[in-house]
Amino acid sequence: MSKKITIAIDGFSSTGKSTIAKQLAKELGYIYVDTGAMYRAVTLYAINKEYVSENFLNVEKLIDDLDKISLSFQFNATLGFAEMYLNGKNVEKEIRTLAVSKLVSPIATISDVRRKLVLEQQEMGKNKGIVMDGRDIGTVVFPDAELKLFMTASPDKRAKRRYKELIDRGDDVNYEEILHNVVERDRIDSTREDSPLTKAIDAIELDNSDMGLKEQFERIMSLVAQKLK
Ligand code: DC
Repeated sequence: MSKKITIAIDGFSSTGKSTIAKQLAKELGYIYVDTGAMYRAVTLYAINKEYVSENFLNVEKLIDDLDKISLSFQFNATLGFAEMYLNGKNVEKEIRTLAVSKLVSPIATISDVRRKLVLEQQEMGKNKGIVMDGRDIGTVVFPDAELKLFMTASPDKRAKRRYKELIDRGDDVNYEEILHNVVERDRIDSTREDSPLTKAIDAIELDNSDMGLKEQFERIMSLVAQKLK
């Protein structure tokens, strides 16, 4: 059987991690897991239950409900990637709204939430042959991953990409609000106590502010080829 590796992709929000991760998984025939979608789905659950709003977060209620939150990914052949399901319902579109983006970072600071999701992520990747993206994949989820990437880009470039994505899907958003959300999420994600976003010492940093998708893909595939030797 051919050698299979684990590819961990971490980095700031809207650095294009999931776009490149999906492409890599497709090329290699690997599973792709977007861990941000899992934190987003838990946030959506908390919003629907009114456990969280802009000025309020009931950590205890959410922790009490954690075993009632069932997360799964189901592959959509038309889209070519797996969509996020929360308690059996497809929430792929709902979890990408700005309303969820605004509340997800505080939810991701809760250690009980992280513990649950990290265990599920480790289970999904136990047989290798996986590309996983997030904030703590190379540091906490798979510290032994064969290839670790850390993606960065300027906040302005990232906010512009995110803005275009949301406008293209028909959301009514304003650029300043998106930029503020990107910067605020970076701050919370990097300063939280449990598993803060940080580059693993053995991760390769890739600043894609001025790099196209093709160039990034080729660069990463050459790193993958070295690891597969
Ligand atoms: O990748 P994303 O922007 O969809 O992630 C949404 C949020 O989830 C992000 O702001 C922080 C949190 N997150 C995390 O704490 N750990 C991960 N492994 C993935 C995401």
